[in-house]
Amino acid sequence: MVTPYAILNRMRQGRTLTRDEVWSVVAGAADGSWTDVHLAAFLMAAAMRGLSGDETRELTLAMLESGDQWDLAKDFGAVVDKHSTGGVGDTVSLIALPLLASCGVPAAKLTGRSLGHSGGTADKLESIPGVRLELDRSKTIELLERFGMAIGISTAGIAPADRRLYGLRDRTSTVDSIPLVVGSILSKKLALGASGIVFDVKTGNGGFFPDPEDTRTLASSLASISAACGTPADCVLSDMSQPLGRWVGHAAEVGEALDFLGGDGDPRLFEVVAAICSRAARLVGREMRSRDLEAVIASGAARQKLIDWADAQGAEPGWTDALDLAPVEAVVTASESGYLAAVDCRRIGNAFADACRPDRDPTKIDHAVALRYDVRLGQQVERGQELARLYVRRDPETLRREVAAALVIGERIEPPPAVV
Ligand code: URA
Ligand code: CA
Repeated sequence: MVTPYAILNRMRQGRTLTRDEVWSVVAGAADGSWTDVHLAAFLMAAAMRGLSGDETRELTLAMLESGDQWDLAKDFGAVVDKHSTGGVGDTVSLIALPLLASCGVPAAKLTGRSLGHSGGTADKLESIPGVRLELDRSKTIELLERFGMAIGISTAGIAPADRRLYGLRDRTSTVDSIPLVVGSILSKKLALGASGIVFDVKTGNGGFFPDPEDTRTLASSLASISAACGTPADCVLSDMSQPLGRWVGHAAEVGEALDFLGGDGDPRLFEVVAAICSRAARLVGREMRSRDLEAVIASGAARQKLIDWADAQGAEPGWTDALDLAPVEAVVTASESGYLAAVDCRRIGNAFADACRPDRDPTKIDHAVALRYDVRLGQQVERGQELARLYVRRDPETLRREVAAALVIGERIEPPPAVV
């Protein structure tokens, strides 16, 4: 058994860690034999010197093996998983899974809570009265067999070593290290055991990494390390320099997903959804074109799929009419005529998080707080035109001020492409 000191010493000398050394770090994180001091030093060394591809693969596999593994594809057969690196007004999962399932491509995912400025699919889905996201392996397979889709919430049994390391990263300023992010995300994704994973990697100031170069590195690293761990993966790079859809909210985004699946979808959102579905399908040897999506939308099958899935996971009857917006409305208007030239998407995400989650407490989410985003980057606006509408419980002033400051009117710009 190599000691923590010996491993840290090798890292300090710039030497690459062996497989056994990486595994002993992770075993130490899981069984408590590595103290916070040792792990913090490991994390800082990893963040500063980086990890090689082999080190990242072993870190991922070791964290994966520290917890439960569902091996879905082994029992169920071909099934795809989808993951977003986090965005604002990002309803892609809520839309893509019913579309995939309606086109005969089974899809499953374990979702997470909101994190920082970005929204979590688990929180959004819990705005559906009655929905239960706690799944286990057999329930997931049963849902896949009945509906071709399942959405759960990540459980404590999955990648416990990552849970400990993630908490320490938060305290040691080592969250935004690409190899650590890749290991953290993948160890949890691989635990589901899908046949293939499609990643929606967000770029722009509302994404996880504001620098586009970092975004590209993250995307290629997620795909290559996943493949090196035995699961084929693909990435879509999509724009998060403004909210993706027409809404930011919990109940409001579920409502947007229903509208989209009912045929009333935002074109930028459609582009991202179509790219995700096409690549996800390709991972399991299928083809899915825009016209396939349009067909299951036009027939009503995709919208019904989302409803049937929610019903099977406990939604109360009539829930589609119970997605209420908070009662106090306020508007943000253009202070001058011009073009929407810049959006501080991260600021909008943070302001929204503060408005619906006081103290960022995940147990106190107000699912009815929402923001309707009416304009798009590059669009011409007239002085006094409504840019956004807010739905809050009480005083809207703080949110209104933040959103107003985040929407910059200026010279004409080219609208950014939805898929980069
Ligand atoms: N999400 C994760 O699960 N882990 C990270 O490190 C970053 C985002
Ligand atoms: Ca609820």
